[in-house]
Amino acid sequence: MGSKACYFFGAIFCSMLFMPTCIHGVTLPEIRDLRAKHRFSCLLVFGDSSVDPGNNNRLTTSSKSNFLPYGKDFIGGRPTGRFCNGRLATDFISEALGFSRTVHGFLEPNITNMDLLRSVSFASAGSGYDELTSNLTNTISLNKQINYMKHYMKHLRQIVGYKKANEIISKAVIIMSTGVNDYLRNYFLEPTRPKQFTLDKYQDYLVSRMRHSIQVKFIS
Ligand SMILES: *[C@@H]1O[C@H](CO)[C@@H](O)[C@H](O)[C@H]1NC(C)=O
Ligand SMILES: *[C@@H]1O[C@H](CO)[C@@H](O)[C@H](O)[C@H]1NC(C)=O
Repeated sequence: MGSKACYFFGAIFCSMLFMPTCIHGVTLPEIRDLRAKHRFSCLLVFGDSSVDPGNNNRLTTSSKSNFLPYGKDFIGGRPTGRFCNGRLATDFISEALGFSRTVHGFLEPNITNMDLLRSVSFASAGSGYDELTSNLTNTISLNKQINYMKHYMKHLRQIVGYKKANEIISKAVIIMSTGVNDYLRNYFLEPTRPKQFTLDKYQDYLVSRMRHSIQVKFIS
C-alpha cells in the first residue's frame, strides 16, 4: 500500500463564528437523500463544547458539564458531559443519518466496537483552532483530536480489516464545529494574541490553523 493524502473537508461543515457562508440549513429528508446518494459510512466529529459528548470528563480541566442541570432532558435525564440540557445537534444528525441516537465520545472508557463503526466524537469543550486556546483551557486541541483519530483508525483496522477500514473512512461524514473559544476564551481575554495580531489578522491565523489541522496525511 502506498501513502495517501486525505483532505478532510466535511460533507457538512459547520464553523460557528465569522464564517457565515459555510452555514446552510439541511432538512431531515435532505440528510436522508445525502446519505443514500453518498453511502455515508459513519459520523466523525471534531470541535468544542457544541459537539463534545463528554470527552472532557476524562481531563483535568474546569471545562466540564457532567452535573445537573446539564442533561436533565437527555435520555434517562442524566448529565453526560454534554454542554446541553438534552442531545446535541450532532446527536440529532447521527440519528437522522441512521447511525445511532447519540454520538459517543472517543475517550469514553466503555466505548464499543459497534459505537466506533457508527458515530464518534473527538471534540473537547473549551478548545479551538488555535492551540493556545486549548493550552489555556487544558483541553484537547484540534491537532490532538486528529491524532486521536489516527488511534481510531488503528482500532477500526483491527475490527474490520485494512481495506474495509479505509473504505469506512473515505465515506465518513465529518463535522467540525469550533472557533468560538478562540475569541471568548483567548483573544478577548488574554494579552498574547492581541499583541501579535489585529482581529482581522487573527481570523487569518485561525483559518491557517484550520487548514493545517485538516490537511492530514495518513501514511498507510
Ligand atoms: C458508558 O459509560 C458512561 C459513563 O461512565 C455511562 O453513562 C454509559 O451508560 C455507559 N454505557 C454503556 C453502554 O455501558
Ligand atoms: C501548547 O502547549 C504545548 C505543550 O506544553 C506546547 O508544546 C505548545 O507550544 C503550546 N502551544 C501554544 C500555541 O502555546
